[in-house]
Amino acid sequence: MAYKGLTFSPILSLGLNIFVLCTAFGDISYSVPEESKNGYVIGNIGKDLGVNSKTLSARKARLAVDDTGKGYCTINLKTGDLIVTDRIDREELCGSRTVCSLTYEMVLENPLELHRVVVQIQDINDNSPRFASDVIKFEITESTVKGARFAINGAHDADVGQNGVQSYSLENNDHFNFVVNTKPGGGKYGELVLEKELDREQQQDIKLLLTATDGGIPQRSGTVVIHVAVLDANDNVPVFSQSVYKVSLPENASVGTLVVTVSATDADEGANGEVTYEFGHTSDELNELFKLDHRTGAITLGGQIDFEKETSYELSIQGKDGSGLVSFANVIVEIVDINDNAPVIFLQSFHNPIPENVVPGTEVGIINVQDKDSGQNRQARCSIQENVPFKLNPSVKNYYSIVTTKELDREKQTDYNITITATDEGFPPLSSSKTVHLYVSDVNDNPPVFQQQFYNAYIPENNKPGTPVCSVLARDPDWRQNGTVLYALLPSGVSGFPVSSYLSINAETGVIQALRSFDYEQLRSFKVQVVARDNGSPPLSSNVTVSVFITDENDNSPQILYPTPEVKSSLTEIVPRAAVSGSLVSKVIAVDVDAGQNAWLSYEILRSTDPGLFTIGLHNGEIKTKRDITESDSMKQNLIVLVKDNGQPSRSSTCSVYLLISDNVSEVPELKDVSFETNVSELTSYLIIALVSVSTFFLTFIVVALVVTFCRKRKHRLLFDGAVAIPSTSFPPNYAEVEGAGTLRSSYNYDTYLTTGSRTSDFKFVGAYGENTLSTNHTLGRCPTDNFGQHAVIVSTSTDSNEVKFPIFGNAFSLYNNTPMD
Ligand SMILES: *[C@@H]1O[C@H](CO)[C@@H](O)[C@H](O)[C@H]1NC(C)=O
Ligand SMILES: *[C@@H]1O[C@H](CO)[C@@H](O)[C@H](O)[C@H]1NC(C)=O
Ligand SMILES: *[C@@H]1O[C@H](CO)[C@@H](O)[C@H](O)[C@H]1NC(C)=O
Ligand SMILES: *[C@@H]1O[C@H](CO)[C@@H](O)[C@H](O)[C@H]1NC(C)=O
Ligand SMILES: *[C@@H]1O[C@H](CO)[C@@H](O)[C@H](O)[C@H]1NC(C)=O
Repeated sequence: MAYKGLTFSPILSLGLNIFVLCTAFGDISYSVPEESKNGYVIGNIGKDLGVNSKTLSARKARLAVDDTGKGYCTINLKTGDLIVTDRIDREELCGSRTVCSLTYEMVLENPLELHRVVVQIQDINDNSPRFASDVIKFEITESTVKGARFAINGAHDADVGQNGVQSYSLENNDHFNFVVNTKPGGGKYGELVLEKELDREQQQDIKLLLTATDGGIPQRSGTVVIHVAVLDANDNVPVFSQSVYKVSLPENASVGTLVVTVSATDADEGANGEVTYEFGHTSDELNELFKLDHRTGAITLGGQIDFEKETSYELSIQGKDGSGLVSFANVIVEIVDINDNAPVIFLQSFHNPIPENVVPGTEVGIINVQDKDSGQNRQARCSIQENVPFKLNPSVKNYYSIVTTKELDREKQTDYNITITATDEGFPPLSSSKTVHLYVSDVNDNPPVFQQQFYNAYIPENNKPGTPVCSVLARDPDWRQNGTVLYALLPSGVSGFPVSSYLSINAETGVIQALRSFDYEQLRSFKVQVVARDNGSPPLSSNVTVSVFITDENDNSPQILYPTPEVKSSLTEIVPRAAVSGSLVSKVIAVDVDAGQNAWLSYEILRSTDPGLFTIGLHNGEIKTKRDITESDSMKQNLIVLVKDNGQPSRSSTCSVYLLISDNVSEVPELKDVSFETNVSELTSYLIIALVSVSTFFLTFIVVALVVTFCRKRKHRLLFDGAVAIPSTSFPPNYAEVEGAGTLRSSYNYDTYLTTGSRTSDFKFVGAYGENTLSTNHTLGRCPTDNFGQHAVIVSTSTDSNEVKFPIFGNAFSLYNNTPMD
């Protein structure tokens, strides 16, 4: 049945699409008889291309069909067969053309490959020869000589070749013979040839049956009755001015346009010389399309012609004179193409949506441009609008691939409207455009990003468990789960406990809550790492450090280290009688484990034996004589000192200071009995002086020794560590740990500074002390970002230590400050 051939088309030349991956391969030809049943297998296209059926379906093999074309054929992707899907009527498709074929472009994607598939339609003998009419009438004079010829329009068979009309046979008769001749423009016509003169008197009417047979198997035939009326006269045959009229007509010619005027002349006079015109055999379609004026021979357009449907028409015209003598001429109408069809863009394949991480140059889709016009009018150029990251790469023939030119980012633009415009090269040019809506799909390419580089959170001590501390926020611009942020604490330890026992974070909201009540005196600050993770796969994460500062509350009373309340006896101070106004007599040393204002202690004398005799430094606790001691002053002096911090509300403690005004050390044991009521007794001032001198010297020595020792040691150690000379029995329980926590940097800096550079007027940059320790009104909100060291405070310390604004352990360092190093 079918022949298969693989020929390679030379059309594809170098230079046309050098950079394009896709290529056009050769033609594949098949042939199929018309009127084949649906499902008829024309051939196996997969086998002929050497592509297995799996690849065919993977590469989306298909026949590209334009918008008007009926499919007729399709590829069965399972088997690779090319099969018939629609009735193929050769006569409808190709009319009288002897070669009739369907041409397809077979498209294979990835890479784009095109194959031309030509399916030849074989004619079958499904049409019988047909005459234009059932009866052909002739009027022939009886004087007509033997050999006269009378043209008869031949029968028409829609089939072609062997299936067309092959022979004629005329019914047996005495007068006529039938011969077949070729027309001037090609085509055939028959002639009745008079073999034996007619005799009207013998036979007035002759009826003959003419049979036309085709050469098909089985044979088909058609008949016409030739009716000859025998007359009495004789005349000339009409003669056309041209045997073939060739005209061209633009396809947009309007109805009524004169196509051509045919004319034939007849040498006869009168009715015999009058020529009338008629179409020879014409199809119904042509009869509608062209109108022939029987008398003038003018052919006008009766309908709309379309170059895209038919490029030329051939009309057979017969001129007939009054006596029925006929001659033929042909009119060939060539249709001239007008650029009346805009190019049409077909989207052949389209990957939508496309992931945002495709590399530039990725093929997004394939388009195909078709223009039904011909020549220049068919040439179309395609372009894409400027402002999108896509371009068109010309591919095979009129195929283009749409490729990306840049990296796409869904977070910047989620969709694109790509408008492709095709313009042909006709005059004027026609264009059309097509817009495709391309979506960009998400890829988890953005980790969550915290809004701040770090977070500082402040929480007052003694908080309730469950108090929110701070809330962190990270954003991820990705889509849906790729952009859903979940928070967690990174495991770490704080003072030997897992951080999860201190804080918890709400995975969704990022709100951090305290799990326990904090004690500033135990823990001043700690850091915790929060990780924000999106829900993509794999997930992306980032982390941030949250510094939690516990702010002080005034929850501790000042603690008096000296004089210790329990051991009264050993704490009696001896004041020499010779002491003048302003002499340092003793010092109350107190600490407050709170910080800032809460630890800024002030001292005042609550009660005293002699209110006018002693005074206490408001901030340093130094007890000095107010005036010179006189003989009349009572020997035993008793002071009750109130130590008060500056918190809101403030807390206070009191202590008693026992003073002995005496120069005789041996009088000291009696001090146990001193009371406010004791009057001045006669004491041996010499002994007291000696005693006081020794004890003062001793005290001074110890203090100096301590300072020296302290300075040699780590500079930032707490002053109290060195102050062992103070007869203290109990330190606050976590006293030493205050340093260990090591978080109140600014206050430590200050301490260090004061101890090393005492009595010198100097300044030093110290962090924003007040901001971190003195303010207590931190409320929950976005945690403020404090930058230590950004707001430098110049702290000037003068020798007047009472003015020092940093009261942590203020009394302690005041002591040293007032004690010369040398
Ligand atoms: C046919 O098309 C041509 C060229 O486009 C134009 O000049 C002419 O006017 C058109 N004629 C009609 C009848 O529309
Ligand atoms: C694309 O066109 C559609 C429909 O006209 C419109 O809704 C959409 O916003 C357009 N997108 C862009 C990126 O211009
Ligand atoms: C998230 O990203 C992955 C690739 O990282 C992708 O496959 C998935 O479709 C994305 N999810 C959504 C909802 O876009
Ligand atoms: C936290 O993030 C930093 C960079 O931002 C990274 O170097 C570090 O490894 C991360 N830590 C953890 C525990 O993920
Ligand atoms: C010191 O006091 C003791 C006892 O009161 C007395 O015996 C002694 O003489 C006194 N010494 C001086 C130098 O007055």
